Amino acid sequence: MTLEWSERYVSGYPEIDAQHCHLFELINHINQINTIEELKPLLMLLYQHTREHFQQEEELMRCAGFSGLDDHINGHNYLLERLNAFSIEIGHGHFNKADLVKLMTDWAMNHIVRNDIPALAFITKIKIDPLANAVPSAPAAKVNALHRQPFRGIPTRVPL
Ligand SMILES: [Fe+2]
Ligand SMILES: [Fe+2]
Repeated sequence: MTLEWSERYVSGYPEIDAQHCHLFELINHINQINTIEELKPLLMLLYQHTREHFQQEEELMRCAGFSGLDDHINGHNYLLERLNAFSIEIGHGHFNKADLVKLMTDWAMNHIVRNDIPALAFITKIKIDPLANAVPSAPAAKVNALHRQPFRGIPTRVPL
């Protein structure tokens, strides 16, 4: 099965949509390979891309004061744990491509539509552009402090 990008996955945030689209490409690429040697570097790429994408998405939601952030992060962490487990299995020589593709396909089709798009719609609704204000390199403590504050409008940069 090939994952096809369509309107139903469009969130309205071009950067996020581009990341989701790239995720689809990676999953489709993994679906086409035939050896464990090909799978290893692709799984690394997939993990890296997914983790960076999650960080950016969480930063957007954090800056916007999105109330469902903790649940959303839990969902992201679950997938990262699963990918880690796949990585360990592959390290032990199991060519589990089909299970990996199924996991990622189910994830992409469900999480983007049911979780990402509603959350991003919330951010759009309050009319902010958190991507311009997100501070991915800010120390975690400061980011957490920002998250605990009630939303007061357009976020400003967290002082380093
Ligand atoms: Fe996403
Ligand atoms: Fe997400």
